Amino acid sequence: MIRMTLAEIAERTGGRVVNAAPELEVTGGVEYDSRKVGPGGLFVAFEGEKVDGHKFAAATVEAGAAAVLSTRDTGQPGVVVAEPLSALAALASAVVDRLDKLTIVGLTGSSGKTTTKDYIGQLLSRLGPTIAPAGSLNNELGFPYTVLQATTDTRFLVLEMGARGIGHIRYLTNIARPRVGAVLNIGAAHLGEFGSVEGTAKAKGELVEALPADGVAVLNADDPLVAGMAPRTVAKVVLVGESPAAAVRATEVVVDGAGRASYKIGFEGKTGNVRLGVAGRHQVANTLAAAAVALSLGMGLEDVAEALGEVGIVSGRRMDVFTRADGVTVIDDSYNANPSSTTAALQALASMGEGKRTTAVLGYMAELGPHERSGHEEVGRVAAELGVDRLIAVAPEAGPIVDGARAVAGWTGEATLAPDQAAAIEVLKGDLRDGDVVLVKGSRYRTWDVVDSLRGEEESR
Ligand SMILES: Nc1ncnc2c1ncn2[C@@H]1O[C@H](COP(=O)(O)OP(=O)(O)OP(=O)(O)O)[C@@H](O)[C@H]1O
Ligand SMILES: [Mg+2]
Repeated sequence: MIRMTLAEIAERTGGRVVNAAPELEVTGGVEYDSRKVGPGGLFVAFEGEKVDGHKFAAATVEAGAAAVLSTRDTGQPGVVVAEPLSALAALASAVVDRLDKLTIVGLTGSSGKTTTKDYIGQLLSRLGPTIAPAGSLNNELGFPYTVLQATTDTRFLVLEMGARGIGHIRYLTNIARPRVGAVLNIGAAHLGEFGSVEGTAKAKGELVEALPADGVAVLNADDPLVAGMAPRTVAKVVLVGESPAAAVRATEVVVDGAGRASYKIGFEGKTGNVRLGVAGRHQVANTLAAAAVALSLGMGLEDVAEALGEVGIVSGRRMDVFTRADGVTVIDDSYNANPSSTTAALQALASMGEGKRTTAVLGYMAELGPHERSGHEEVGRVAAELGVDRLIAVAPEAGPIVDGARAVAGWTGEATLAPDQAAAIEVLKGDLRDGDVVLVKGSRYRTWDVVDSLRGEEESR
């Protein structure tokens, strides 16, 4: 964070200074995990369900923290506020207000926010000091936490924005208003909360509504619900995609045997060649969005094309591909799953597994609401239509995946329902051979053990 006195912090957060002179300065970072607080930092104590952060206040100060932000007096130097989340938001806004050389980039969408945020971070780092921390810090806690990492040196701040309902993104844009905003896609993610893709579009479009007149809205030309957001912004609209309507356009897309796409990127009458090192056809859309952001912030097309060839996976378990010593290739896409991202991953599996034996280990997809059954059946059908050789659905809730696959006429593959991850691991153990390609995907912890076991076998070799 930038340097701030306790008096300033108290003023912005509506709190009061305790156990310290108001002139005491916070010179380090803001952390809510007591183990992460560094010298001169500010520890924010949350009262969690299991752990009360206030208990660690003294230890953080002992370890060098300058002060504590808390909801009650901990006896340590600090500021006492009514509610820590709003205080964090207010503090983040205060930081942004002071940094006039900062350009804020926000991005949202149903799938690929973290992946694309990492790409944008890697591109913009070439233009100047950039904050785009690894991970998925996209909610009312992670967003201001990320903002608070900006300092007077920072030129670009790249913020992932998630929404679980109407007004959520507006809340985030009120903390830190982006000048460049990208909406990637509207899919079936978090449908449970929104009810429909139109509801999702309404919520995600709040990002472009918040952009200023001198801002840039990067919208996916190939996704009608996203392209349809254009009238909702006063910012300049830059369409990206493969359709002729796109201002930043990919043509001649080719996917190689390792699932990596190459394409020709066109912008303002010029073209460049992009050869991606990351796997998955869907990375074309993600990298185009990243390209549009970089182009709108002054990077030349040639540099963008070259830099895209070098972007890598920063946040783990997202199309994280590794090949074991025994020749088995594993696609770890187990961070999260919904029907759109699972379809994308299955397509990657199919292209990487051409002429090889392919296995998809698919776990339960959370948050599908009324589409729970149909969503699972759909990915099973897609897997079978893509000719996946072996499908292992994990846990009874994922059962409709098997039903969906078996309903595809002419599919010669085999579908199994493993009652849990241990059973899926058992099925795979000893049955993988040189050349096999295995995709592991699900909603978070529901398939993580499977991929860790596959990795573990590798490591214990
Ligand atoms: N453009 C895309 N279309 C479909 N799937 C994608 C796309 N980009 C990434 N994915 C897949 O979606 C999953 C989630 O990726 P990522 O974490 O980048 O998305 P996110 O939007 O940040 O998700 P979350 O809502 O959990 O924050 C991964 O499995 C990834 O491979
Ligand atoms: Mg994310």
